[in-house]
Amino acid sequence: MQPDASDHRQPRLLVTGATGYIGGRLVAALEARGHRVRCMARRPEHLTGRVAPATDVVGGDCLRPETLGAAVAGIETAFYLVHSMGSTGRFEDEDRRAARHFGEAARTAGVSKIVYLGGLGDSRRELSPHLRSRHETGEILRQSGVPVVELRASIILGSGSLSFELIRALVERLPIMLCPKWVRIEAQPIAIEDVIAYLEGTLALPAEHRIFEIGGADRVSYADIMLEYARQRGLRRRLIFVPVLTPRLSSLWLGLTTPVYARVGRKLIESIEHPTVVTNDDALRAFPVRPMGLADAISRAMRFEEREFAATRWSDAVSSAGAERSWGGVQFGSRLVDVRSAFVPVPRAAAFAPIRQIGGTRGWYYGNGLWRVRGALDLFVGGVGLRRGRRHPDRIGVGDALDFWRVEAYEPDRRLRLRAEMKLPGRAWLEFEVKDAEGGSTITQSAAFDPVGLPGQLYWYGIYPLHRRVFAGMLAGIARRAVAPAAGPGAPAAAAQNR
Ligand SMILES: NC(=O)c1ccc[n+]([C@@H]2O[C@H](COP(=O)([O-])OP(=O)(O)OC[C@H]3O[C@@H](n4cnc5c(N)ncnc54)[C@H](OP(=O)(O)O)[C@@H]3O)[C@@H](O)[C@H]2O)c1
Repeated sequence: MQPDASDHRQPRLLVTGATGYIGGRLVAALEARGHRVRCMARRPEHLTGRVAPATDVVGGDCLRPETLGAAVAGIETAFYLVHSMGSTGRFEDEDRRAARHFGEAARTAGVSKIVYLGGLGDSRRELSPHLRSRHETGEILRQSGVPVVELRASIILGSGSLSFELIRALVERLPIMLCPKWVRIEAQPIAIEDVIAYLEGTLALPAEHRIFEIGGADRVSYADIMLEYARQRGLRRRLIFVPVLTPRLSSLWLGLTTPVYARVGRKLIESIEHPTVVTNDDALRAFPVRPMGLADAISRAMRFEEREFAATRWSDAVSSAGAERSWGGVQFGSRLVDVRSAFVPVPRAAAFAPIRQIGGTRGWYYGNGLWRVRGALDLFVGGVGLRRGRRHPDRIGVGDALDFWRVEAYEPDRRLRLRAEMKLPGRAWLEFEVKDAEGGSTITQSAAFDPVGLPGQLYWYGIYPLHRRVFAGMLAGIARRAVAPAAGPGAPAAAAQNR
């Protein structure tokens, strides 16, 4: 059904690309300011639970013009954040067609203004296919006749931004990097918070064609970004510049080192041929935004990620669209999470009881010998080992030491999150959550790891076959104990699964 444009409860702002990185952050910011927002997505179900209840979600695919009417009806300002970079086809063709269809639909619906976020790059020089396509998209939107405010940005720094994730993946994995020429090319990276502030700021601008170049406070090379990220993570990195590595060769190398980003990363790297810096300061005069510099942008990105991670139910994150699944668990940003769940035919309190009592003399419900070896190894390298036990056999509280863990979050009969205090090349957490289910409860157990550098990666993947057995055995042991509190290993098994 088409929304009624005369209904003032209807949203006046449309965010396209709402499942994407920028779109997702923009929707959250607009909602926080009390705007009524409509999101358009090719697969609206991917936004379930990710937008506020008052936000409208409609289906729409820019490559199928007949699907766009419901999205643009009654809209004043449409944010165009569609990008086909992840497509397997030719992204230039798809972006061209998508912009044409969207511009036409917006004009037909009487949209007053389109706000488009494109890429920085001097159009007087020969541009890479990617940047040429970003500029062309703005031009096609303008040809629709709807006034377009175009913001042009270089790399956007924030956790989840593809260019930032790519840089981070390289720095985390490679202690020594053979760097091609492009690593010295200048960019003007901008923090995601500043990009969102600019996007919001466009709402106050008159409906007329404008192009603004936006950038952070520092002009830096890609090498500077890598080294600053390494500095903040406490990683020692050496960059060796070699003139013979072409962007194509280095993008193949990228496929080997960071397979998750291989396809899109290749397109991005091949696009780095010329500087992407701000050449006029119109944006600083037209907007009240004063962008931060590189170091602040990176540290804010990491702090934001930390807060998000702490506030996330990993079991939910794993079932949402954003998480990358691979051997060795599910990737959640730079973190790796092993999630499994089991159904037990008992009420929530009974299912939670063995979790509340975990560790200390009761042990870890599976492979206690292995846990003791791990504790001894930890003591050997100067860690706390298993000797701390637990404060009380049945009671638990936030801040308690528990063997080589510390209780980070505790909600009685619902949730226990432990943070590892053993010596590790990274940070680790173990979380248990119990939810009511028909005829019983579901126990979800998540083990999360934030690897630091190559040793962190090698640790997680190298030891994963053993961890997998331990994680599966521990959950099965907890489920058995929940069903038959006094029983040993022979008690009836529950249905456990790795999700
Ligand atoms: N991230 C950066 O560092 C950066 C830097 C400078 C400029 N920008 C610009 O910012 C804009 C948004 O980038 P992003 O990083 O947020 O990209 P992104 O995460 O890849 O998101 C792209 C969005 O476009 C949607 N989309 C793709 N094809 C579509 C179609 N045919 N119909 C409807 N929706 C479609 C995707 O939806 P699905 O979920 O359905 O695939 C997704 O929501 C782009 O114009 C980009 O050039 C980004």
